[in-house]
Amino acid sequence: MFQTLLTTLENGIYTITINRPDKLNALNKDVFTDLNTALNEIESNAEIKSVIITGAGPKAFVAGADISEFGGLNKADAMVLAKRGQDVFARIENSAKPIVAAVNGFALGGGCELAMSCHFRVAAENAKFGQPEVNLGLIPGYGGTQRLVQLIGKGKAMELLMSAHMIDANEAKQLGLVNYVTTAETLLEHTKKILEIINSKAPLAVAGCIKAANAVYDETKDGYALEIEEFGNAFATEDMKEGTTAFLEKRKAIFNGK
Ligand code: COA
Repeated sequence: MFQTLLTTLENGIYTITINRPDKLNALNKDVFTDLNTALNEIESNAEIKSVIITGAGPKAFVAGADISEFGGLNKADAMVLAKRGQDVFARIENSAKPIVAAVNGFALGGGCELAMSCHFRVAAENAKFGQPEVNLGLIPGYGGTQRLVQLIGKGKAMELLMSAHMIDANEAKQLGLVNYVTTAETLLEHTKKILEIINSKAPLAVAGCIKAANAVYDETKDGYALEIEEFGNAFATEDMKEGTTAFLEKRKAIFNGK
């Protein structure tokens, strides 16, 4: 099904491994095509409750956009390239199902941007984050200038964007870019444990949280109004009746996603 991705589905968790280890999983056209296809699968397959994105090999999550595809591009071509990347990453960010990055090494340029488009990040000790585009005479093109500021604040983001300075996993955690730092061996296990907890909650309520929290960063939306609407929508779900009834009956709720 995919040229550049490995996928598994286990206990409702769909794990996507970007599989170009020889090129440190750099994002070429094929990876974007495959990610789009994987996103279709995530949307349409009811067995998928949540998603992990990680990279193949011990060295890299994703070392950036594939620089070998930049040669000969003019301004218009480059804008199309950036738009395509931004569109795919916006689909990840706006996915109704949780998508978490398990960062297992270099997350540079487009790799850092991919991780930032996920709903949150878990990093192995050897993870390194950065936006090194200025080394190439470039700026980030897949949302990095926006999401880095959103996630770590303007001052530090400005420094990282302008200096190309790489930070390690612990600094990324201090800055709020990642939620947890694990060993390389326990990265996936730890990420799966978090998702198992999320998967036991009401899926429509989880989707409502994603939508409302994302509205904070969307100027076209009134986040408070959207929260009221999503709160109201929740009252029309079977899962809300089940969740509140189970609480009152002092038993564990069993949600069906309706
Ligand atoms: N695009 C295309 N190929 C890439 C790549 C990228 N972003 N990042 C790494 N690769 C390739 C290298 O060209 C090399 O391929 P080769 O073996 O055919 O020569 C292979 O992946 C291994 O990378 P290498 O540079 O030899 O590994 P390293 O351990 O010495 O260095 C990095 C690791 C991450 C520091 C280095 O690869 C790097 O700086 N990559 C580019 C990061 C970047 O600028 N990203 C933003 C792009 S917009």
